[in-house]
Amino acid sequence: MSKALEGIKILDFTHVQSGPTCTQLLAWFGADVIKVERPGFGDATRGQLRDIPDVDSLYFTMLNHNKRSIELNTKDETGKEVLIRLIKTCDVLVENFAPGALDRMGFTWERIQELNPSMILASIKGFGPGPFEDCKVYENIAQCAGGSASTTGMLGDVPLVTGAQIGDSGTGLHLALGIVTALFHRTHSGKGQKVTAAMQDGVLNLCRVKLRDQQRLAHGPLDEYSQFGENIPFGDATPRAGNDSGGGQPGRILKCKGWETDPDAYTYFITQAAVWKNVCDVIGKAEWKEDPDWSTPKARLPRLNQMFGAIEDWTMTKTKFEVMEICNPLNIPVGPILSMKEISEEQSLRDTGTIVEVDHPERGKYLSVGNPVKLSGSPVEVLRSPLLAEHTDEILLDVLNYSAKEIAEIKASGVVGEVKS
Ligand code: COA
Repeated sequence: MSKALEGIKILDFTHVQSGPTCTQLLAWFGADVIKVERPGFGDATRGQLRDIPDVDSLYFTMLNHNKRSIELNTKDETGKEVLIRLIKTCDVLVENFAPGALDRMGFTWERIQELNPSMILASIKGFGPGPFEDCKVYENIAQCAGGSASTTGMLGDVPLVTGAQIGDSGTGLHLALGIVTALFHRTHSGKGQKVTAAMQDGVLNLCRVKLRDQQRLAHGPLDEYSQFGENIPFGDATPRAGNDSGGGQPGRILKCKGWETDPDAYTYFITQAAVWKNVCDVIGKAEWKEDPDWSTPKARLPRLNQMFGAIEDWTMTKTKFEVMEICNPLNIPVGPILSMKEISEEQSLRDTGTIVEVDHPERGKYLSVGNPVKLSGSPVEVLRSPLLAEHTDEILLDVLNYSAKEIAEIKASGVVGEVKS
């Protein structure tokens, strides 16, 4: 079976998390991803948060599967010549350097277009054009500037960042979509184009419902927020909503059996209007089914604390998995709070390739997250990340078609560093 992006060559100038997430996805869809790394160092994440001394970190290995690595000093004249040949050969250049770094290297968008008019230049930056466009940005800054932190956390408490890497991996996903869209456009325009995704924009896109609530506030309180029933006045900005459901069906995180000792013994419980009568039966409140104080969603909104208190009295008598077993047949939407330990041991995620075990020559076996997007005609085999400069020789020879003499000269210049066997 062929791969969806087979034949597409990606010049992968990315580092840390946001850019590598994007190019890893493209590699999983079948693109040939050539990671260009600084001689001697490579991507900084190779050495960050190491669990085993002198071995590529999990941070790096889990973000750079299915890629090839070449070391290249792109600030040296010989290195620039090699980079020019890469630009002429590849379909897409992906980068997430600090603002202006590619220009400083001498590769402006105009120059790249001269070299290869059909090239797609895809960039991630922290901010789009505006007052902050020159700023360096990491994950949590994007979460704060994109509206996530101000709307996450408990009411009256500090803003919170989330464990989901919506600034880095989220923006990488957005960029990947931009790249395949530009590749499609190129099939009928014949031209490349510039694709940019700002991390602030990516986070805001994922916080779209919070901007919805900001506008609803002008028309009165947000009655699905718990603070409405608690008679706590709303301010002039979307507040933090704790664990309230963001949708029109009230939901909350509730304690389950064992919560006193297990930090993850909780369930998310949604009181979907369509199955309210089933909720009443299961928690032993049959009298609420026809009671006008409880029978309609609108009547329940001012009483969310009392309602979830009653439901929690029931969930605390069951484990989070028992809650699931009882509620699912009744069509009540619930979900256990799963720890990373539980997720890593979940067989069904292994069966679908969402959790994969990968073998690495230096670190041995480790777990990774496979491609969460499944294409029936383009299966994914998750391959280990490359060692630094592992493919320098084959890229110079097979991709860039340098002669043996030219390769010897390039190596003698020192721009490709030491090649690891
Ligand atoms: N050969 C020679 N030089 C290279 C090179 C190579 N192969 N690859 C990178 N460099 C140089 C760059 O040109 C740059 O030089 P300059 O500062 O003289 O222009 C330098 O290495 C450092 O690159 P930079 O991107 O500034 O790295 P940093 O470690 O200082 O900053 C970030 C890291 C993530 C803060 C920054 O890259 C950034 O803001 N990126 C955009 C937003 C982003 O993606 N953030 C999320 C990361 S998960």
